[in-house]
Amino acid sequence: MIFAANFKTNHTRRSTELYIEALNKKLGAKKAEDKVYIFPPSTALDDYEGEFTIGTQNAYPAHNGAYTGEIGVEQLDEFGIKTILIGHSERREYMAETQEKVAKKFTFFQEQEFKIIYCIGEPLKIREKGFEAVMQYLIAQFEGIDLEYENMIVAYEPIWAIGTGRSATVEEISTTHRALKKVINNKPLLYGGSAKPANIKEITSIAGVDGVLVGSASLDAESFSQMILS
Ligand code: 13P
Repeated sequence: MIFAANFKTNHTRRSTELYIEALNKKLGAKKAEDKVYIFPPSTALDDYEGEFTIGTQNAYPAHNGAYTGEIGVEQLDEFGIKTILIGHSERREYMAETQEKVAKKFTFFQEQEFKIIYCIGEPLKIREKGFEAVMQYLIAQFEGIDLEYENMIVAYEPIWAIGTGRSATVEEISTTHRALKKVINNKPLLYGGSAKPANIKEITSIAGVDGVLVGSASLDAESFSQMILS
């Protein structure tokens, strides 16, 4: 299983250090085949040691240059970071990242041979229209994305389940993942949206779920390690 922690705009450099110290004490007990990713805010990026991979939540598709406020490959190289989240619904919505921009970013980081966790997900009004509408919406989020890229993981995160405490049901996850797996040629597929210690077993038992992308419940090292070790 894959367990990925997306801190979003939470934690500082200091609290990330303490978090990793606490997590490292627990990770000795994890199964060898389980893989852990941590996406701290960019001010906390560093070359931490441990049984996990550090990734960036975002970066500008350039090595360096005049892109005020952004970080590029040069800043990630300093810490050996070769993993990135692309297409998260919060960036699509709040940072107005269109599918075109998301696809350009994907292509750039694919060329840099980054591991890409590519996020897709539908809003509630689409889910309410039914399964067909959901799949149509999700497939449109693959426009311009090379689904043959072997270093990619897909994360399905229904927007209405993010940060709401209400995860999608087993049935919703199961049917959506089954259909998505075909579209993505069986690439690893994570679920995200209110995953937490109380529902992790149920979610990771679903066929077609290869892991989870966790926001709120990953912010506390104890809670996240409980999920990994459950
Ligand atoms: P929550 O786990 O807080 O619902 O967030 C999910 C998410 O958006 C991870 O990228």
